[in-house]
Amino acid sequence: AEAVELPEVSFSHEGPFGTYDRAAAQRGFQVFEQVCSACHSAKYLAFRNLADLGYNEDEIKAIAAKKQVQDGPDDNGDMFMRPAVASDRWPSPYANEKQARASNGGAYPPDLSLMAKARLGGEHYIYALLTGYTEPPAGMEVRPGMYYNAYFAGHQIGMPPPLAADMVPYGDGTPATVEQMTHDVSVFLTWLAEPKMEERKQTGIKVILFLIALTIVFYVAKRRIWARIH
Ligand code: HEM
Repeated sequence: AEAVELPEVSFSHEGPFGTYDRAAAQRGFQVFEQVCSACHSAKYLAFRNLADLGYNEDEIKAIAAKKQVQDGPDDNGDMFMRPAVASDRWPSPYANEKQARASNGGAYPPDLSLMAKARLGGEHYIYALLTGYTEPPAGMEVRPGMYYNAYFAGHQIGMPPPLAADMVPYGDGTPATVEQMTHDVSVFLTWLAEPKMEERKQTGIKVILFLIALTIVFYVAKRRIWARIH
């Protein structure tokens, strides 16, 4: 495949010292909750994990209570639906793949839990994809129910352009432009795919510092041990 140039965008979580922009991730969660999750599941997102983004217990309970999850079997052996609690995971919008495809013109909206790790380019690809809807080049025919996207492999995607300006009422007053919402949901999805990234980087820094100190100790010890030999 030809190499594709992705649009320029930088994230605070990049680089060896980068950390997640929690405010952006919270806004990104709002985008996920109000837009993406209408079609996409996120089966590894437990509601209680949202505490890491700065939501408190009451907020998490309220977010969970808006969703219905399947439970059971009850005393009669039947499955039943109940409002979610903090320990539940984000439920899929569809009962199964068949229903998902039937609702999306045959295309299957993939689970977004690990999406930021699943495609070449990671969150930069997600950013490119969501901002990559344009008119098709002259002469190209887009099949019915498909949309032209500059960054999707094959350029015809079954996902309609999901975002439009001011779609998500941001609680913190940030203007909800398409670029802003795309940036924010990319941060959220990166956190979702690697929630322990910050610990990993901090451990790496500690390990490097320790190895530098150890190298100095060994160097000094070697000089002492060999000092008498000329
Ligand atoms: C595919 C993200 C909203 C339906 C995808 C893919 C990503 C994605 C990353 C995978 C592309 C690939 O395979 O390389 C998002 C995000 C959303 C969102 C971040 C919210 C901002 C929606 C909505 C719908 C939808 C609201 C339904 C109306 C689909 C479908 C596919 C897809 C059907 C499969 C497309 C195909 O294989 O042709 N989405 N999506 N998505 N999405 Fe979304």
